[in-house]
Amino acid sequence: MIMKFHQLTSHERLAQLVDKHLIDENDATLLNTSYSSIHEKMIENYIGNYAIPLGLLPKITVNGTDYVIPMATEEPSVIAAAANGARMFSYGTVTAQAINREMIGQVLMHDIEFVEFEQYVIKHESLLIALGNAAHPSMQKRGGGLKKITVRNLGDKMVSLDLLVDAQEAMGANTVNTMAEAIAVYLRDNGFSQQVDLAILSNLATQALVEVRVSLPFNAVEKVGFRNVEIAQKIAQANLYSHIDPYRATTENKGIMNGIDAVVMASGNDWRAIAAGAHAYASYDGKYTSLSKWQVIDDRLEGSLTIPLPVGIVGGSIGIVPLAKVNQKLLKVTTAKELACVIATVGLAQNLAALRALVTNGIQAGHMQLQLKSLALAVGAKPTEVTELVQRLAKMPLRNTETALKLLKEMRN
Ligand code: MEV
Repeated sequence: MIMKFHQLTSHERLAQLVDKHLIDENDATLLNTSYSSIHEKMIENYIGNYAIPLGLLPKITVNGTDYVIPMATEEPSVIAAAANGARMFSYGTVTAQAINREMIGQVLMHDIEFVEFEQYVIKHESLLIALGNAAHPSMQKRGGGLKKITVRNLGDKMVSLDLLVDAQEAMGANTVNTMAEAIAVYLRDNGFSQQVDLAILSNLATQALVEVRVSLPFNAVEKVGFRNVEIAQKIAQANLYSHIDPYRATTENKGIMNGIDAVVMASGNDWRAIAAGAHAYASYDGKYTSLSKWQVIDDRLEGSLTIPLPVGIVGGSIGIVPLAKVNQKLLKVTTAKELACVIATVGLAQNLAALRALVTNGIQAGHMQLQLKSLALAVGAKPTEVTELVQRLAKMPLRNTETALKLLKEMRN
């Protein structure tokens, strides 16, 4: 009998891949070396760990407290830029606050008369809330739980029953889904059997918003060869483009998410959820714009960022992945709200560093060393050869794969 792939151990899976010539023995050894029994239990059809470099932003100050930030990223310049932004932030004041922190669940229904159904929900709200909470009683015991239920008219006789859930220190996806499904079952059994279509959390977490504000003197953005005031004005101008042009806004937001996703990932949170929510929120007013705003006001450069950040410090993979726990030790945050404030601040610092580079020497100049390192690794330089190859490449007029390969060959001869 041929066993199904999911019934094999990871070692057997690798052997099968070698047998089928999909990978060779060296590839199998590489995958085998990355094996982790914990991770094997986390996903289906596990074959190994795909590692992403973990680095540290040694210091960023948020609301007067210094934090050490673990960041998981494969992009060479991200941590250097975050550190640069954090250094600029140290010239001024940084205040961050969680505006609210509740998760939204949805029960989506069709063929519904809105006004009538709204009355039904008002009348049955306490019952539905009790049902939701009974499906996940521990959350209520901890002071959280399902707090409120409202209905939104989606048009064409479709509605969304919106559940507002306080998930305490967890991100709360499982809790919200369990509660929403329990309510969906009740509605199906009580007169809406054909109308209830699906029940799921919404990743547009508009009830878990964080706002960070920074006020900087112009010398915070100082750069040799440029006037401070001019850099500040150009940063505001660069940001303005992102408020009128979605093409530029997408790139600026990508830069913000470079920092945010790296901390979200290192802290064991779901970065796809955060990224999806962030980009949807960026177009919340009907037009996709930058999540941040930079302005020159009198003699200060003022920046702000508002973003949904439904992150947790318990639950999900946080309690399972060993490095997520180590990273939490480094972060030293004690609440989910505090973590969200720190993450948003890293995002804004990342943003400032990118804008300052873009309006002065451009992004490539500062990244040259890092890019040459990546190029050296990409052409197969061993870690011991990287420094010398980077030095040789830096002297070349054309720094491409061909040149790197030629130089590496020369070095080895
Ligand atoms: C690159 O990863 C991020 C930037 O493109 C962000 C931006 O353009 O603002 C530099």
